[in-house]
Amino acid sequence: MQLIQSLEQMKGLEHPHGSKLGFVPTMGYLHEGHLSLVERAKQDNDITVVSIFVNPAQFGPNEDLQTYPRDLERDLALLEERGVNYVFSPDDAIMYPPGYLTWVEVEKLSTILCGASRPGHFRGVCTVVLKLINIIKPHRMYMGEKDFQQLIILRKMVEDLNLDVQIIGCPIVREDDGLAKSSRNVYLDADQRKNAVAIYQAMLHASRQVAAGQRQAHELVTEITDRLISAGAKPDYVKIVNSKDLSDVDHVGQDSRIMVAAWFGKTRLIDNMPLIT
Ligand code: PAJ
Repeated sequence: MQLIQSLEQMKGLEHPHGSKLGFVPTMGYLHEGHLSLVERAKQDNDITVVSIFVNPAQFGPNEDLQTYPRDLERDLALLEERGVNYVFSPDDAIMYPPGYLTWVEVEKLSTILCGASRPGHFRGVCTVVLKLINIIKPHRMYMGEKDFQQLIILRKMVEDLNLDVQIIGCPIVREDDGLAKSSRNVYLDADQRKNAVAIYQAMLHASRQVAAGQRQAHELVTEITDRLISAGAKPDYVKIVNSKDLSDVDHVGQDSRIMVAAWFGKTRLIDNMPLIT
C-alpha cells in the first residue's frame, strides 16, 4: 500500500490498461462502516484508492473541525490489512491553496434536512468530492447509506455534471445494539451512548407500525420525536421522505424513508431507515 500526499503524484499514477479503479472517500478515524465500503470496493475493482481528508469546507464556523477525531497511523494500518492499494491524504493547502474560489452547489437538495441546520455543508462536500474524483479518476465510488442525503446529492451532482463515475450506495453498518457506526460516536459519554440507541429503536418501532398498516407520516414522526425526547435527545429533524428525491411524504408508500438527526448533548447524530409497506 502506498500513502500519497502530493497532488502531482496522485494525478500522475498510471494503471494497467483496462483496470477498474474503486474509490472510497473518507474523513478518516475509520470504523467498520468505512471498512465495509473498502471491502466492497476491493471485491468489485482491480485497484482500490481510499482518501483520508478532514475537509474544512464542509464544517460550519461553530462545528467540530478542530476536535474531529484523527488517527492516521491507525487508519493506515487498517487499510493496509484490507489490501488497499493507495491512500490519498492531502493537506488543506493542497486542496484549497491560497486564492481558491470555486464551489459546487447542488441546489434545493442541499438546503433541506441536514442542509437546513448546516448551511454550506453540502457545498463543501460536493466541492471536495468533485475535486477528489478529478484527481483520482475512479470508475466507481463507494458511499454509505448512513449519510443518505449526501449520497442522493452526490448522485445528482454526478448526473448533472456528466461525470464518468458510478456511485455505489452501501448499507449502514451498526453497533450490536443498533446505533449506526460513526466517527462522532466517540464524543458520547456513557449515558449518552446508552441513550443514543433510541434513534434506531424509534425508527424500528415506526417501521413495524408501517408493516402493521400505519401509513400516516405525521403519526410516525410524532412518535419517533417523542421517543427521542424521552431518551434525553434534542431532535433536529424527524422526517419521512421519498428516497429518490428526499421530498416530504404525507402518506407512507413505496420508497419512503425515515430521516433523523438528533443532538445528544453536544453531539449531533444522524440515521435513516427505509420503510417497507
Ligand atoms: P465520513 O463521515 O468519513 O464517511 C465516509 C463514508 O463512510 C461515507 O460514504 C459514509 O456514508 C460512510 N459511512 C460512515 N459511517 C457508516 C456506517 N455506519 N455504515 C456505512 N457507511 C458508513 O462522509 C464523509 O466522510 C465526507 O462527507 C466525505 C464524503 C468524505 C467528503 O468529505
